[in-house]
Amino acid sequence: MKEILSYDSVEISFDGEAVVHDVSFSLHPGEILGIVGESGSGKSTLLKAAMGLLGKSGMVTRGDIWFQEKDIPDLSRGEMQKICGEKIGMIFQDAGASLCPIRTIGEQIYESIAAHKKMSREQAKEKALGLFEKLKFQDGERIWNSYPFELSGGMNQRVGIAIAMLMEPPVLLADEPTSALDMAVQRQVVQEMLALRELFGTAIILVTHDIGVVSAMADSILVLKEGNVMEYGAAAQVLEAPQNEYTRKLLSAVPRLRRS
Ligand SMILES: Nc1ncnc2c1ncn2[C@@H]1O[C@H](COP(=O)(O)OP(=O)(O)O)[C@@H](O)[C@H]1O
Ligand SMILES: [Mg+2]
Repeated sequence: MKEILSYDSVEISFDGEAVVHDVSFSLHPGEILGIVGESGSGKSTLLKAAMGLLGKSGMVTRGDIWFQEKDIPDLSRGEMQKICGEKIGMIFQDAGASLCPIRTIGEQIYESIAAHKKMSREQAKEKALGLFEKLKFQDGERIWNSYPFELSGGMNQRVGIAIAMLMEPPVLLADEPTSALDMAVQRQVVQEMLALRELFGTAIILVTHDIGVVSAMADSILVLKEGNVMEYGAAAQVLEAPQNEYTRKLLSAVPRLRRS
């Protein structure tokens, strides 16, 4: 199958200084790519580049990021806004915390859908409750009517992920989506993302420093160190027979987890 997103020799710089060097990978529909590396290795920067979120001082200084025949760094702001959210969804470590505290979940969902599509409040609610049900959220009606503070932190995170998926973007970028969660909720969020891939064929880039989460989810793995690709390949290959000394160290630093 043809890739949906591909990075081709990408260099990213802040104020003229490169922090990501010559990174290439490609993502196919429905594929889950795990990007792992220590703090500061450039994981978030790689994802932000695909969303045009590098800020004033950051830019892609070499290479291309291809999405559906378009080179993302060349797109205008307007073209980029069309892609953000609708074609490429993104969730952060604290997707839950980015919910507005003074508006109900339902109001926020309606607004985020209305930003992209003409849809009535009723239709938006039907769509959201349908997705909640598929994701096995208990009592979607109550969630729809709740303010974020009325839900647990874990539930807010799960709702944040569901909101990112309501437009059914073919690509989801997830930056440390489980890092702030306790183990039980982490497991639910992992299940939620796997369910989304099943439901919509979503391709996911999952950035994390948690090898356990990567081994439970990823089809392929890219290891990043100081902005350089140390290793990139099929998950089983990278986890079971890492070619690179750095990858071996990274893997040995955590208890081995079995793929479930
Ligand atoms: N807005 C910015 N301005 C300057 N440097 C930045 C900015 N964002 C990230 N960096 C630098 O880029 C490097 C990679 O950061 P980041 O992508 O956040 O790493 P990670 O997500 O792997 O922890 C770091 O050295 C960081 O200091
Ligand atoms: Mg980061």
